[in-house]
Amino acid sequence: MKAYTLVFVIALAIFSCNSEKKQTKEITSPNEKVTIDFNINNEGRPFYLVKFNNKTVVDTSYLGFEFKDAPSFNKNFIIKNTTTSSFSETWQMPWGEQLDVENNYKELKVELQEKTTPERFLNIVFKVYDDGIGFRYEFPEQARLKGDVFITEENTEFNLTEDYKTFWIPGDWDIYEHLYNTTNLSEVDALQYADHKNLAQTYIPENAVNTPVTMVGKGGTHLSFHEAALVDYSGMTLKVDTENLNLKSNLVGSENTDYKVKRTMPFNTPWRTIQITDNAPDLIESNLIVNLNEPNKLGDVSWFKPMKYTGVWWEMHLGKSSWDYGMTQNMSTWTDAGDAHGNHGANTENVKRFIDFSAKNNIGGVLVEGWNTGWEHWIGFEDREGVFDFVTPYPDYDIDEVVRYGKEKGVDIIMHHETSAATETYEKQQDTAYALMQKYGMHTVKSGYVGKILPKGEYHHGQYMVNQYNNAAIKAAKYQVAVNAHEPIKATGLRRTYPNIISREGLRGQEFNAWSSDGGNPPEHLPIVAFTRMLSGPIDFTPGIFNIKFDEYKKDNQVNTTIAQQLALYVVIYSPVQMAADLVEHYEANPEPLQFIKDVGVDWETTKVLNGVVGDYVTIARKERGTGNWFVGGITDENSRIVDLDFSFLNDNKTYEAIIYKDGENAHWDNNPLAIDIEKTEINSTSNLSVKLAEGGGFAISIKEKE
Ligand code: NOJ
Ligand code: CA
Repeated sequence: MKAYTLVFVIALAIFSCNSEKKQTKEITSPNEKVTIDFNINNEGRPFYLVKFNNKTVVDTSYLGFEFKDAPSFNKNFIIKNTTTSSFSETWQMPWGEQLDVENNYKELKVELQEKTTPERFLNIVFKVYDDGIGFRYEFPEQARLKGDVFITEENTEFNLTEDYKTFWIPGDWDIYEHLYNTTNLSEVDALQYADHKNLAQTYIPENAVNTPVTMVGKGGTHLSFHEAALVDYSGMTLKVDTENLNLKSNLVGSENTDYKVKRTMPFNTPWRTIQITDNAPDLIESNLIVNLNEPNKLGDVSWFKPMKYTGVWWEMHLGKSSWDYGMTQNMSTWTDAGDAHGNHGANTENVKRFIDFSAKNNIGGVLVEGWNTGWEHWIGFEDREGVFDFVTPYPDYDIDEVVRYGKEKGVDIIMHHETSAATETYEKQQDTAYALMQKYGMHTVKSGYVGKILPKGEYHHGQYMVNQYNNAAIKAAKYQVAVNAHEPIKATGLRRTYPNIISREGLRGQEFNAWSSDGGNPPEHLPIVAFTRMLSGPIDFTPGIFNIKFDEYKKDNQVNTTIAQQLALYVVIYSPVQMAADLVEHYEANPEPLQFIKDVGVDWETTKVLNGVVGDYVTIARKERGTGNWFVGGITDENSRIVDLDFSFLNDNKTYEAIIYKDGENAHWDNNPLAIDIEKTEINSTSNLSVKLAEGGGFAISIKEKE
């Protein structure tokens, strides 16, 4: 894998540099479709507007801050200076949805100063792209604002002009694992519609939503609000004023402080972003979020190889085996509590079974959860510090032997660090834990942050935790370890800067289908996720469940899709680590659909979103790096539909062999989820295909050039 390379920089041209007049400053995207206007009003309040195709999509929206122990920073400003410039480059992703990324934008930098004491300075930088905008606040070095700054709130507004159809989850300070709601913006009601809201376990401020939040207008304008480069700051939720159709930043706080963000001067905030397109597929193809992040700081990360993986995982979620070994809470005495350890999943023999299966099926890794001591005392316990140990295996797990066996078979072991949100314990052990991985040549860790954060009073999405997640990844990189965090902070494109941040959860994943008391993720879940959560970055969703109804394990739950849709997810949901999540025995009983998982790529040269409607359906085609093979995946919600495809993305004058995996004649996510038709055919760039997707269904196609 090639390290990040800056291919070329066309221009960084200063267009104008003038001191303040009262007129509006305007910049327009390279294709001239998106425009930002900036100005200050009579009170000296800074504001901006955004136009798309000459229509105002964000009307006068004010900008500013509240501080602890300092006057607020909202008005009384004059414009000291403005600078515009333009930038164009192509950079390469070391792994990703595509190899080459175009990064073209125009920039407006506004330098503001308070016109009365304390005459502080604030800069606001706007970037306008063809696919949207980003802006951030810069606090430059200055004599009258020094040392630590305590932000109690950021007052960033997005004042909308239409009652958009809005796809949202509550602005929960701890948990992104919510079902999406679809309502008009004027009907957003975070607490009323939250699927779970145990307020002893989490905090959902009144009428705030989390980002990315995606909106579709009547005329077809698509907007998605999010942030980029969330570093040493709190996550931003958006408070919805349903009457005035206004969104306002609402930073995640802490019970332990009377401010939300503490920074030392000088500093910059994260970018506030709006992806703006006139159709749904372009939202997925947008690279705005990664483009707003700094280039690769790690250099060559070719030690991380994108891979498919299996694991000792689903069996615990189904209740077939346990994470814990069944010892009493006193780890030092190793006393067997005598209940569960006959059932311990992470034992040497079981892991070898997964290694054998992976080796046979072109799957590069095996995740082992429940291998280390501490699982007797995690969920449901308050005193979780000092419990998990990230270097000590249970007695029935021979880590030396498992790693040796994996190497012999060409399969990597994926490390697991469940922290149970006991951050001090994890922080203390990180160096030894990552060093152990390095010793074994393990390059990927799945981490987890289940439960309320310790220290008490902190939230998963506040500044304290943003720093925990980022620092863990930066430290891991020193040991050539790549991180896939569960219960994470949201993705904000930092994978560009630190390409060892490979994937994460941060949504209701497949696990909800195993045990959620509300019956799991409904068929519309992923057709919404593709246009919301997925815009922020890779998702460790863990697809590929073949035993949809969990026959022998659970009666009340099931996966709410067809088996063909489970295959489609390998293409639709992007991640450089992609799990084949089901049990070995369920795959071995179904060799024909398994062929797709065996064949499908995980690292892409090109991605094309062929069609889609937010919340209804989506079809994505991706070309594998190295082989030139193409894979296509399509999924639908609870409605059956016909999708028409052409293959004009293929090379002209070449013939390809396609294997089509589609819903069987009477397939249905609930009544008949296993009905699948598999068909081999020849196609070329002029071929057409109509595919019928069942209710909750999908299709997957593998396309290889004929020799
Ligand atoms: C929650 C994670 O999402 C899941 O994948 C994992 O198995 C458990 N925590 C245990 O760490
Ligand atoms: Ca989870």
